[in-house]
Amino acid sequence: MKFGIISDIHSNSEALDCTLNNMGKVDEFICLGDIVGYGADPNYCIKKIKDLNCRCIGGNHDFAVIGKLDINYFNDAARKAILWTSRKIEENNKIFLLNLNKKIQVIENIFAVHGSPREPIFEYILDKNSAYDIFKKYDFKIYFIGHSHLAGCFSFNKSNNQVNYTDFINGGYIEILKNKRYIINCGSVGQPRDGNPDASYGIYDTEYKVVKIYRISYPIYLTQKKIINAGLPKILADRLSWGR
Ligand SMILES: [Fe+2]
Repeated sequence: MKFGIISDIHSNSEALDCTLNNMGKVDEFICLGDIVGYGADPNYCIKKIKDLNCRCIGGNHDFAVIGKLDINYFNDAARKAILWTSRKIEENNKIFLLNLNKKIQVIENIFAVHGSPREPIFEYILDKNSAYDIFKKYDFKIYFIGHSHLAGCFSFNKSNNQVNYTDFINGGYIEILKNKRYIINCGSVGQPRDGNPDASYGIYDTEYKVVKIYRISYPIYLTQKKIINAGLPKILADRLSWGR
């Protein structure tokens, strides 16, 4: 079975369309949250996710635009985009966001969450120590996460209790081995922050026991133009070019 893993689309329709075209056929889509926020196409992106019939988790931006989170938690540009999005978003799409789960079981002992199993919405897993704590505290083979917008993988070696980290700035793959456990971030579709502006997504193939991370270019200038024309903060357009 093949799972298409997407996360942190952030209302970027160009990146989402290119990602889905590039991905081709998979058996099921899993979306790890932050469909909206930052970008200018929230309704388009939510509709696309609905049409994919994918299993979807909510992220901090998704819950903030429907008033489920305090927006003071966000920086100035993010807060402005959240307020703009909550004005633009259609009622049926608000209901969709309202009903999103905070964690899902992908298959067997493989799970997905936006932030971390310990704090599904807010926690960033950014270093080996945090990853080690999660490996020790929770029982799982793979946890797919989003939120940081950094494509990479923490692996835990059961034989020596060591955690390693591999980044996927230029894509790559992870072989799922018997003696290891994994926390995998397939990166952000709509606002990568690892220095590579290309959209990032993953495919988990259960038969071949591999997770492949792909980086693909998309017409960033179109997305930037829409952000500027919508009156959203300019920094949200600029950062797409930097991949930061
Ligand atoms: Fe995000």
